[in-house]
Amino acid sequence: MAKPRILITRKWPDACEARVRRDYDVVLNETDEPLSQDDLQEALGRFDAVCPTVTDRFSAHLLSKAAKTKLIGNFGVGFNHIDVDAAEEAGITVTNTPGVLTDCTADLAMTLMLMVTRRAGEGERLVRAGDWHGWKPTQLVGARLTGKTLGIVGMGRIGIATARRAQAGFGMNVVYYNRSEVSPERLDGLKAERLDDIDAVCEAADIVSLHLPGGGANSKVLDAGRIAKIGPEGFLVNTARGDVVDEPALIDALHSGALGGAGLDVYAAEPHVPEPLRALDNVVLLPHLGSATAETREAMGHMVLDNLDAFFAGRDVPNPVR
Ligand code: DGY
Repeated sequence: MAKPRILITRKWPDACEARVRRDYDVVLNETDEPLSQDDLQEALGRFDAVCPTVTDRFSAHLLSKAAKTKLIGNFGVGFNHIDVDAAEEAGITVTNTPGVLTDCTADLAMTLMLMVTRRAGEGERLVRAGDWHGWKPTQLVGARLTGKTLGIVGMGRIGIATARRAQAGFGMNVVYYNRSEVSPERLDGLKAERLDDIDAVCEAADIVSLHLPGGGANSKVLDAGRIAKIGPEGFLVNTARGDVVDEPALIDALHSGALGGAGLDVYAAEPHVPEPLRALDNVVLLPHLGSATAETREAMGHMVLDNLDAFFAGRDVPNPVR
């Protein structure tokens, strides 16, 4: 029997590319350039499964014309770049990679939290520019994390893992907002108070960390009013999706001092990072590194392939997005 035809849209870890080469009739992306909308449209007519990443947008329009593809195996947990309603309508199963990137993304949220509160980016720029002329008591004085209140918006796997790190490592108090109640089993000893809404979290927290999915009703959920509630002594960390923050409002607040600082791994229109944001010193800017460790990226690739294997063997896929 002919092997299913698979498209992998970006370069994958070597071990995962070797596995997909062994088991499928695969086209890899040797140049690692992002595919155009025309390329993706064509792919939906040629491949049994397409394995995209966050850089590949599958709109309803694109999916409505899918002629061959029956599975989209996303390399990533977030899937707001795929119109899953339209995929369902087109008879396409969509899978993602939950769980395997929880720890690394939580680690990166802590990295940003520390970098922005301790002004590590500013310090590094100072040293690299050759402008550091020695220690002084008032130089680059930041804010201490220990004992502060962390506000988590979106208490899923990554939100909980971030809160756990903050509490165990830095003695932080944790408040959070999550649409549904989080069971004590999931909190597993973590002391965290659920507040009524996101406004209450922004008011109560010294640092707000975002862990909710992008797209839909979450778009710009951190608007100017909520950013102002975090306040001039407060910080915002975003490792979720750029569109959940009103980016122009964030830039205004960082510029005016209405918000103390921000640590960002994601942006509204990646890879575009607005110049006014890049010009600010009180923001740490990373290039969407949340899951970027060798261990995690390999685990993500294998998880996509586990889903492909199940699908083409006629079994239930382990990680359907719904
Ligand atoms: C994820 O897995 O959602 C990462 O942000 C990459 O898409």
